[in-house]
Amino acid sequence: MIVAMASIPVVLDVDTGVDDACALLLAGLHPGLDLRAVTCVAGNAPLSDVVRNTLTVLGWVERADVPVGVGAGRPLLEDPVDARHVHGSDGMADLGLAPPTLSPDPRSALDLLRDTIDEGAASGEPVTVVPLAPMTNLALLARVHPEAFGRIGRVAFMGGGAHVSNATAAAEFNVFHDPEAAAIVLDACAVSDVPVTMYGLDVFYAPMVTDAQVGALRAGGSPAASLAADLVSFHHRRFANDGATIGDAGAVAMLLDPDAVHTQRLPVRVELTGTWTRGRTVVDRRDWSGGLAHDPHGLAPAMVDVALDADGPRIADLWLRTMHGGAPS
Ligand code: RIB
Ligand code: CA
Repeated sequence: MIVAMASIPVVLDVDTGVDDACALLLAGLHPGLDLRAVTCVAGNAPLSDVVRNTLTVLGWVERADVPVGVGAGRPLLEDPVDARHVHGSDGMADLGLAPPTLSPDPRSALDLLRDTIDEGAASGEPVTVVPLAPMTNLALLARVHPEAFGRIGRVAFMGGGAHVSNATAAAEFNVFHDPEAAAIVLDACAVSDVPVTMYGLDVFYAPMVTDAQVGALRAGGSPAASLAADLVSFHHRRFANDGATIGDAGAVAMLLDPDAVHTQRLPVRVELTGTWTRGRTVVDRRDWSGGLAHDPHGLAPAMVDVALDADGPRIADLWLRTMHGGAPS
């Protein structure tokens, strides 16, 4: 008897970006995922570029059925900074693609998140919310619609790092862009008992795609494969490397193949005040079983499933097989 794999209801929160686009391709194409909605936030690029890029990718893979919500145009407190030095001036590899034919959903990102989460909970299929960007939208949801936030099945976010940083010597870009939002989301997960997984920089760079694999994608000829090839080869050229990470796509792949990622449940706080450390995810790996009477801070309230190691080739292969249109296992 063939048992169809139940597809996982997901919502992606994106700042599309090259690797967000790789994640959207995976979420839009893989039958193991039920992409219920996408919400946009400023991050890699200004919000208008993020919305355009997101609609372009969903149109490219014929997913006009997926509603796209427009969210926050800047962080809660920080001034907005972008990462166009990484993602190109248009935020998505400067491919010169035709403007999207799709339009955003009339609802704001917050209302779309609320409705999608509530519908999932009501049907007994709580959704996994996958922030791949600064967590401004999800923090606002926690404050504006706390009851909906509490109905989230799991938050699985790309951000932070236990031992690795990129935006500064201490912080990862998504959390550094809006540290208050990240702190609010971790606190709300703790208060509402929403399980949370952190796919941070400790694993982010593991799933790499090589030039040769890009060539095979191009030879495949499908629209998804050609866009995937263009996205990854942009990073090959920009960073003069033979390999490039699929970044955010790894956080989505983790949902499909959780055994490819090793996680440990650890207390996590976000540093908000350090001059040199603002935006750092402080992952507590001490052996605190013996008690913390000496520690004035005590354990962080947020217990997070932190991804500490990943099988990069396995994750990259899942993404490549999906881009090729292969029957993903
Ligand atoms: O630090 C990497 C993260 O920042 C990724 O989500 C990338 O798209 C950028 O948003
Ligand atoms: Ca991103």
